[in-house]
Amino acid sequence: MKRPVRLVVCVNERLGAGQASCVGRGNLDHIARMRQLITDAGLDVSVVERVCLGRCEEGPVMRIAPGGKFFTGIDTATLPRVLAELESFLERAQ
Ligand code: FES
Repeated sequence: MKRPVRLVVCVNERLGAGQASCVGRGNLDHIARMRQLITDAGLDVSVVERVCLGRCEEGPVMRIAPGGKFFTGIDTATLPRVLAELESFLERAQ
């Protein structure tokens, strides 16, 4: 049985002075936009929120699971590339 494709997103906010975090760098807005893009494209992908993916200094981050690409330094310009990779990942998974 195939495992469902997921977009795993970091929703961590580190509150210490000078500590980088994905939410501190705007990932909640990126996640909302990705949910919309996924819905608009009709993709069978769930968005799964996790508190920290261990690469805080490279954030905001997202990854495709299982076994897909890890995206760092996400910004609004990156989101179409994440969507394209999701579409390609789904095609390869069939
Ligand atoms: S805060 Fe996002 S990877 Fe740690």
